[in-house]
Amino acid sequence: MDAAITQRIDALRAAIRHHDHCYYVLDAPEIADADYDRLFDELTALEAAHPELVSPESPTQRVGGAPQASFAEVRHSQPMLSLEKCTTRTELEDWFARCRRELDGAPIALACEPKIDGVAVTLRYEDGRLRLAATRGDGTTGEDITANVRTLRSVPLVLEGADVPALLEVRGEIYMPLAEFESFNARARAAGQKTLVNPRNGAAGSLRQLDSRITAARPLTLFCYAVGECSPGWVPETQTEVLQALGKLGFRVNPEAACFESLDDCERWLEALLARRQSLGYAIDGAVLKVDRRDQQARLGAVTRKPRWAMAFKYAAEEATTRLIAVEFQVGRTGAVTPVARLEPVFVGGVTVSNATLHNMDEIARLDLCVGDTVLVRRAGDVIPQIMAVMPGARAPSAEPVSAPAACPSCGSPIVRPEGEVVARCSAGPARCPAQRREGLRHFSSRLALDIDGLGDRIIEQLVARDWVREPADLYRLTAERLATLDRLGDRSAANLVAAIAASRETTLPRFIYALGIREVGEATAQALALHFGSLDALLSADPAALETVPDVGPVVAAEVHAYCSDSERRAAIADLLAVGVRWPDPVRREGEGPLSGEIWVLTGALETLTRDAARDRLRQLGATVTDSVSKKTTRVVAGPGAGSKLAKAEALGIPVLDEAALLELLERFDPDHVGA
Ligand code: IVH
Repeated sequence: MDAAITQRIDALRAAIRHHDHCYYVLDAPEIADADYDRLFDELTALEAAHPELVSPESPTQRVGGAPQASFAEVRHSQPMLSLEKCTTRTELEDWFARCRRELDGAPIALACEPKIDGVAVTLRYEDGRLRLAATRGDGTTGEDITANVRTLRSVPLVLEGADVPALLEVRGEIYMPLAEFESFNARARAAGQKTLVNPRNGAAGSLRQLDSRITAARPLTLFCYAVGECSPGWVPETQTEVLQALGKLGFRVNPEAACFESLDDCERWLEALLARRQSLGYAIDGAVLKVDRRDQQARLGAVTRKPRWAMAFKYAAEEATTRLIAVEFQVGRTGAVTPVARLEPVFVGGVTVSNATLHNMDEIARLDLCVGDTVLVRRAGDVIPQIMAVMPGARAPSAEPVSAPAACPSCGSPIVRPEGEVVARCSAGPARCPAQRREGLRHFSSRLALDIDGLGDRIIEQLVARDWVREPADLYRLTAERLATLDRLGDRSAANLVAAIAASRETTLPRFIYALGIREVGEATAQALALHFGSLDALLSADPAALETVPDVGPVVAAEVHAYCSDSERRAAIADLLAVGVRWPDPVRREGEGPLSGEIWVLTGALETLTRDAARDRLRQLGATVTDSVSKKTTRVVAGPGAGSKLAKAEALGIPVLDEAALLELLERFDPDHVGA
């Protein structure tokens, strides 16, 4: 055999392994996707030409061949334990006090980790090679899911580093990231297919596939948090060091993990974690506190498969069942008619929920929803509560199917649903449909649009009902005297509102474009359109072909923008806005034109002098790109109080971090007119 070929194959495997580790474990890629693909294609071609050189550890061999007939049973070499749970501070303090007593009052350090809501697995490595992956099962016996787990590119097939034990069993949790869960469901919904009930079911269902090619197509990853059976003497002295050692071997470990000397500090960490629950990117159902030192763990021992040295602190559940009382139909800004579920109030995700979105009529059909059904409701963070499923077996004989309305509940115009579209719409425009007008005003005044403080739903409702405001420009003609006659609005608030409306006149072009509420044009698209065209006139006269040259604008968005800009009623409304003095004094700088061009900034934590939106606008004005997540490409991070994983990641990657004072100084230096705006 040609030694050069063997060498090239080895080099390619090592390079791909390295880049998989950067991308899937560290979330910090070093090369472009296309360059990675080239390496992978070269290896695939070499292995095809030399099949005798293929090895099971090659990165090309993650997806198995023929589907299996069933999963074999696996007896765990060491049981997979479960955890004692608590939900209150008192219970947590009781547990800790007991640990202290049992350890004769010795100081106890506690390792704190998010409790991932996924599927527990064990991974067995012999001589550094993945030999077995199994589910927890009943803790003693699980199922062999090796073929499926091999498809997860964050699971190393070969261990790296200087200290690879001959035998190592690693325990962790496989999960589906929230963004992937949402986009999977959005696609399934659009295709009229079954959706995943929650991310954990998504992970479990994906791992239960007999055909590993299906698992390979599912976006799963894992965090590792413990060691099972392993070579004598390998396991480090503390849980904190276990996580570090696992990281060195190439496993993905949770960057949120922290160790504290006092329970007070742990409780602060628990609170801070709960506050960031939604921005972690994965579902957690609480956190796990573990006595850090292994000798202390051993002294505390376990009772009935639950270690006494660990405690799960559970947060409020994000799912609950309740009854569907009715389905009502709401008309949105663009006339889209959306069914909304009225629910028997239920406590879920930390609040009482009595409404849930149903997206569209297809969703009702897909869920097979009847009024009176018992339904599973999910509310994660600020996301609008959703009905995920009808609870099987609980349908009352009186349950009634939901039917679609024929006329707009707001203006009575016919509802139309163009062939091939999922969205049904009121056929009247905003000029003739009060609901559309109201929603349009809400959007126009919202935080990311013209940001009119104090213009709440109740006021908008009245402004539309009294026909004082037909188009956004009418807002600027309202007087304090007139506003003071509205329900629940005193003289003082009326004066403040007029001032807030007046102040909103001065805005930016991206905000103005966003505020128009053009279908398909969200904040990012508005920004792209403003940057590309540089002026409103240029945008208004662009044809669809010109629109399609804007980054991320495809034929659908281009057609919507063009239709909007060609509509004489909309153009008149825009002209009226300019006539009442709405303006954007700053020229829109194209990327590459400002003093911060080429820089990629991330804002995290709280700011005091500036709002985060204002800071972002100013940075963009200076030519910087402002993004949400820290990566190797990030050039600067602004961190305020409460900053968490983004700050930690920036520090780990050696990215310069500024506080608010430094940001203000920098803004002042480049842009003296605007500080404090
Ligand atoms: S430790 C020593 N750590 O929670 C006890 N478990 O209710 C072994 N889980 O079966 C578990 N995140 O599926 C541990 N950071 C974490 C965890 C975690 C999620 C799950 C795991 C376990 C269950 C116990």
